[in-house]
Amino acid sequence: MALLELQNLHVALEDGTEIVKGVDLAVDRNEVHAVMGPNGSGKSTLAYSLMGHPGYQITEGQILFDGEDVTELAADERAQRGLFLAFQYPHAVPGVTVTSFMRSAINAIRKARAGEDDPVPIKDFRTEMLAQMEKLRIPRELAQRYLNDGFSGGEKKRVEILQMAMLKPRIAVLDETDSGLDIDALRVVADGVQDLVGPEMGALVITHYQRILNHITPDFVHVFVDGRIVEEGGPELAHKLEAEGYKPYEEAVA
Ligand SMILES: Nc1ncnc2c1ncn2[C@@H]1O[C@H](COP(=O)(O)OP(=O)(O)OP(=O)(O)O)[C@@H](O)[C@H]1O
Ligand SMILES: [Mg+2]
Repeated sequence: MALLELQNLHVALEDGTEIVKGVDLAVDRNEVHAVMGPNGSGKSTLAYSLMGHPGYQITEGQILFDGEDVTELAADERAQRGLFLAFQYPHAVPGVTVTSFMRSAINAIRKARAGEDDPVPIKDFRTEMLAQMEKLRIPRELAQRYLNDGFSGGEKKRVEILQMAMLKPRIAVLDETDSGLDIDALRVVADGVQDLVGPEMGALVITHYQRILNHITPDFVHVFVDGRIVEEGGPELAHKLEAEGYKPYEEAVA
């Protein structure tokens, strides 16, 4: 059984509108899955529901993580188990610096795993954070600024990847992490993700464009239209989508 399994997942908005209409998907360690689909097809809704966002109701089906049914778990409990979501639109947290946010997040996960306070030694934290920031080419002064407050689009995305690198999730869901990045930043971010994918981590990469997939090679590509996966294949499918667009699929479901 894969580390993350979605079984017949249906997700509705608070007003009851169904957006995700029955998704089966299995993501394991050492695998990169790409989900590609047109605007408004429900990709972010799927990502939010995986993380346990309270605004998105799972109305049918289930989410299994490491064999455990996590469908009813709160977002922090999912994070403690090793699920991570990099947001399409990261929120600003005025008053909380990147460093203190990162340390609290790590310590919350450590506490949950140890069953008691088990704070990361400051020195270890600092060393690792500086190393990861350098790798992601994040300027040092950003660490002392309030999280995402006035950050450029590219800075927000890099800091999302920094969180991922620091938290070391088992499954990372990346929602449009490529949008708004210049070509160099795209490479840095993609390499950062690719480095982490391995025996400890698998990734679900939501994207519109083939270009991030030039840097992160997907093992599986899923075409997502109108709340459903309508086709699956290997990396070649992403090239086909780039050439032909989603029209043929959209016409098929219309
Ligand atoms: N909180 C919300 N309130 C109202 N409508 C919502 C909400 N969240 C999602 N929707 C609607 O659900 C549909 C799917 O949105 P979603 O953001 O999941 O699409 P997406 O595939 O991520 O699109 P994009 O490619 O543009 O990011 C859209 O019609 C959107 O307006
Ligand atoms: Mg989206």
